[in-house]
Amino acid sequence: MQEYSEKIESAEALKVLEEVRIEVFGKKGVLAEQFAKMKSVPNEEKKEFAKNLNIQKAKLTALFDKKKTELIKHESILMMKEGAIDVTLFNGINEAGSLHPINETMNKMIDYFVSMNFSIEEGPLIEDDFHNFEALNLPDFHPARDMQDTFFFNDKKLLRTHTSPVQIRTMMSQKPPIRMICPGTVFRRDFDITHTPMFHQIEGLVVEEEGKVSFSHLKYILEDFLKFMFGDVEVRFRPSFFPFTEPSTEVDISCIFCKGEGCRVCSHTGWLEVLGAGMVDINVFKAVGYENVSGYAFGMGIERIAMLIHQIPDLRSMFDGDVRLLEQFR
Ligand code: PHE
Repeated sequence: MQEYSEKIESAEALKVLEEVRIEVFGKKGVLAEQFAKMKSVPNEEKKEFAKNLNIQKAKLTALFDKKKTELIKHESILMMKEGAIDVTLFNGINEAGSLHPINETMNKMIDYFVSMNFSIEEGPLIEDDFHNFEALNLPDFHPARDMQDTFFFNDKKLLRTHTSPVQIRTMMSQKPPIRMICPGTVFRRDFDITHTPMFHQIEGLVVEEEGKVSFSHLKYILEDFLKFMFGDVEVRFRPSFFPFTEPSTEVDISCIFCKGEGCRVCSHTGWLEVLGAGMVDINVFKAVGYENVSGYAFGMGIERIAMLIHQIPDLRSMFDGDVRLLEQFR
């Protein structure tokens, strides 16, 4: 039994002590084994044998309990030391914050359009069907509603899937001429390397008396804007479709990484798609009660543009909250 006393004595951690406990006091432990031998001890020796064994057991138990108390104390002090925060310690961190790349890019966009005399409008994030779809020429069962994976609430409300409902709200609360942008948060049921359920868009809308604005105005301002954002790039307008504009266009810039040569980022096309635009569809004007007007609208994702400008490979890193990303923008 001396051997086991030593084992208990020399245990340096609760984990080790627990192993010794099983070995000594466990169901199949040394003590149990000794007690089992009682059966084969001759009757006249039984008393002495049991007495002896009980003394040994008591000694070991006392030793064990003492050791356990000791180790608990020791280990909790260690734990407290490790996790301790010394509030008096100056850790040398004295760093200024920085704008998030999304805000920085958004601010630059806003600067441009404000300089072009656009007003900044806002709308609710929780929208209704009328503003998000119906008034934008996306009636119920319109197949183009599939383009938007919507978060719906029970009461028919929804999280806006784009900033376009702000066009409707602005037209209904103001009179033309209108010259507005709306930067803001939008939501879609999407999550992968290029999509997050929450992201940002900036919307633009210009409405004038009929005939005063045309597609060439749209082309001019977008080209000028994209050169402001990206420097010396080529700008390309491709025919496209949006229910709320007619004609519609998607706008590309020449790839800023390979200068149009073709690379992985531009899928070897030499072009990067950056925004959608078009002349406001007559049905949108009807929905808001406008007559004898013409206008253009455009919309784009802010993350996409920020990622291109800063060469950020994974959209999700924008929302991880890792300060190491922000440190690069100080
Ligand atoms: N709302 C469109 C989208 O979310 C973008 C857009 C806005 C296109 C305005 C044309 C005009 O994809």
